[in-house]
Amino acid sequence: MLFEVSRATMVTMSLLEDLGVEYPIVQAGMGGGVSRHELAAAVSEAGGLGTIAVVGASAIRRELRSARERTARPVAVNVLLPVARKDWFEAASEAEVVVTFWGTPRRRTPRVWLHQCGSVAEARMAHRAGADGVILQGVEAGGHVRGVTPSHKLLEQVRTVLPVGYPLLLAGGIAEHSDVQRALEAGACAVVAGTRFLMTPESCAHPEYKRRLLTADQTVLTELFGFGWPATHRVVPNAATQRQLTADGEVPALNRIINRTSAPGVRFTPPRWQWRLAQRQRPESRLLTPFSPVAELPASFVDAGPMYAGETVARIGDIRPAAQVVADLVGRST
Ligand SMILES: Cc1cc2nc3c(=O)[nH]c(=O)nc-3n(C[C@H](O)[C@H](O)[C@H](O)COP(=O)(O)O)c2cc1C
Repeated sequence: MLFEVSRATMVTMSLLEDLGVEYPIVQAGMGGGVSRHELAAAVSEAGGLGTIAVVGASAIRRELRSARERTARPVAVNVLLPVARKDWFEAASEAEVVVTFWGTPRRRTPRVWLHQCGSVAEARMAHRAGADGVILQGVEAGGHVRGVTPSHKLLEQVRTVLPVGYPLLLAGGIAEHSDVQRALEAGACAVVAGTRFLMTPESCAHPEYKRRLLTADQTVLTELFGFGWPATHRVVPNAATQRQLTADGEVPALNRIINRTSAPGVRFTPPRWQWRLAQRQRPESRLLTPFSPVAELPASFVDAGPMYAGETVARIGDIRPAAQVVADLVGRST
């Protein structure tokens, strides 16, 4: 092992090791298709755990099949609870690991199940519900942000209330080997990184999105892109945030009302309709969906959609292959 680790970490590392995952490195599921089979398979093949995040049961199955053609190693599927349907869990259960996020934790898979949490209360709930481990997401994370506590503080708090040896994974603030080392020393059994893996050729983020992130040095926490899902998310500023957020960085009241009232209906709206709506999105639109700027959208969408990224974006200055990112995070040059 390339890390000095604590006793608790040694006990819990077996969760991933038992599955055949070589390194304590998990690539975060990045929704709307940013992380598909290309990225997940590359991370898994390099010895980490790659995660597919797509919308719908048939897309999950298709991406998993393609990942299996590229790697025989374990792969995870991420399921967002606010939008998931029953058949998504059946499809996701064809992966070795199912990761859930944003909702009441409940076991819906016979596979290894991790739930991403943003608070001590939520981690306790997931543990009680039988999760095999929890991902503790800090407020510095990219994408939708569940809590308000920095990742290391949350890890410290959760460690005191859950049994010794229960697997705790840390998300938020992971971009370099020293971040991984620090998390393992603090008692995490593995780390989860999103933004660092977005900045790889294998991620399906639009090339212009990646290009903007290369020079970004700040992020904002907002609910602006909340049509159908009025939840806090961390993004890099773009034309939409500059045009619509108030001088105090607040979301205008009308947008808030639209976001809140749209939430119940979106769950029952077919993904292809939501996709069509996203394609019409402009920086001045009041309906700002949470769809990420993925490769098949026009480059102009980076100014109309959410450029999700964590605070680590300020430390990431290149796009490098996913296998290289895994090697760098574990402190091993390829
Ligand atoms: C582009 C992007 C999309 C994300 N989408 C999801 C998602 O669909 N499901 C999920 O559980 N987490 C999602 N997240 C949050 C990650 O699970 C994780 O908490 C976060 O990436 C960690 O912070 P980091 O990006 O700074 O590494 C997303 C993060 C990013 C950057």
